[in-house]
Amino acid sequence: MSVSALSSTRFPGGIFGLLQVASLLGLLLLLFKAAQYYLQRQWLLKAFQQFPCPPSHWLLGHKIDRDQELQQILSWVEKFPSACPRWFWGSRAFFTVYDPEYMKVILGRSDPKANGAYRFLAPWLGYGLLLLNGQTWFQHRRMLTPAFHYDILKPYVEITAKSVTVMLDKWEKLIGQENPLEIFQHVSLMTLDSIMKCAFSDQGSIQLDRKSQSYIQAISDLNELFFCRVRNAFHQNDSIYSLSSNGRLSQHACKVAHEHTDQVIKLRKAELQNERELEKIKKKRHLDFLDILLFARMEDGSSLSDKDLRAEVDTFMFEGHDTTASGVSWIFYALAMHPEYQQRCREEVQSLLGDGASITWDHLDKIPYTTMCIKEALRLYPPVPAVVRELSKPVTFPDGRSLPKGIPVTLSFYALHHNPKVWPNPEVFDPSRFAPDSARHSHSFLPFSGGSRNCIGKQFAMNELKVAVALTLLRFELLPDSTRVPIPTPRLVLKSKNGIHLHLRKLH
Ligand code: HEM
Repeated sequence: MSVSALSSTRFPGGIFGLLQVASLLGLLLLLFKAAQYYLQRQWLLKAFQQFPCPPSHWLLGHKIDRDQELQQILSWVEKFPSACPRWFWGSRAFFTVYDPEYMKVILGRSDPKANGAYRFLAPWLGYGLLLLNGQTWFQHRRMLTPAFHYDILKPYVEITAKSVTVMLDKWEKLIGQENPLEIFQHVSLMTLDSIMKCAFSDQGSIQLDRKSQSYIQAISDLNELFFCRVRNAFHQNDSIYSLSSNGRLSQHACKVAHEHTDQVIKLRKAELQNERELEKIKKKRHLDFLDILLFARMEDGSSLSDKDLRAEVDTFMFEGHDTTASGVSWIFYALAMHPEYQQRCREEVQSLLGDGASITWDHLDKIPYTTMCIKEALRLYPPVPAVVRELSKPVTFPDGRSLPKGIPVTLSFYALHHNPKVWPNPEVFDPSRFAPDSARHSHSFLPFSGGSRNCIGKQFAMNELKVAVALTLLRFELLPDSTRVPIPTPRLVLKSKNGIHLHLRKLH
């Protein structure tokens, strides 16, 4: 043995000794990780033994093309009744549910949001209503529910109508130069404008402001990055992710999104320094969303911390516009594909509103056929395609099969709405499914989820969808672009891989 080798073994401080220790530790870590992987996989395999699923690779899980996810899950719906496990990789699987009875069981419990997926949203959305669990969630939900009281929602109809009119005026100018039009971006700006004015007392002109476009782009990037991160075994660890290019993109997009929301909070706080504005607020019977947050007192008498306030603003800014943008865009596409239903809706709206110069709260329950078409589009294209829970205790389903505590469960609303056992000929757009006398399972149609954690903005959203559809049909005929058929893509909200392109024909 050479002198140098001897010396490095004798003196652990030497380079060689250090390398030896490091390799040993590396090997131990690798063995530990391999054992952890093996044990987790064995536990999952045992947990899922009553639930068959398509064959999957022991390391790579189910190999599914990113753009084929929805189609793939639908092919499983036919083969595996009620639910089946979906393996992301060898030690990570989400149990995917698409049966109304199974949905009813899970939504009737109080399992928390699955940490393995939702924690990736925390750097962007913070712990607001969407991500909170337990007692804090309950307190925030109770505090914010009055913001959706119908006295508050009533005047929003007019505000939304103005936002829709700005978009339609823009379209009228644009279609001379550009036809077909990619509508998703325009609709996103419109819904952002509407939520900014309704919930955040904004007075600006969002739809014409370039800065809002960078916010919309940041939200679109964050949607995409979240989807990729959940599916990437190497991006689960926060430190490793922050060093990756996606991690850096995500940090940048969060910064852009936060700049937007910080500005909104700063502006409102400045306005409230004004005595007259403060007096106005004191006289109001119901406060707007942002004012509720700014004046909130927690149970111990303290006000909401800046961190909690920002989390709620980020949550509502996102939930309040991206979901409705998806809803409106897909409804327009569905109506463009079905001119006969489109015309019937138009006639209904025309007979109620004439030229549509004013639309109010009272009109919204007088367009039953249009509402049926909106619901049928929400069935085919649910804006939130899925949500995830983590079982806090074991569960047994009505068919006797069971799962242990700790399993992440994906409630796939998209698969439920396309399940042929629940909806015969599921791919056919048929508004009569929602006729007043039609019977269906209480948990067969869940665009707004169900149970205690259902969508707090459901009524606000339905009003916005009705106003957007009614006013648009009075001014334009919507026709599909047969060269660019949209490809539904599941992100946090349902997007189209290639945008939604429509021909717009102005009506006289
Ligand atoms: C068509 C439009 C909309 C759809 C389809 C929709 C759908 C949903 C769904 C499925 C959930 C459950 C999420 C989960 O369990 O992880 C949810 C929750 C939520 N939604 Fe909506 N939403 C819409 C519009 C809105 C609007 C306009 C707002 C706000 C103004 C809003 C605010 C929220 C919030 C804060 C939650 C979390 C509620 C909680 O956990 O207590 N949503 N939404």
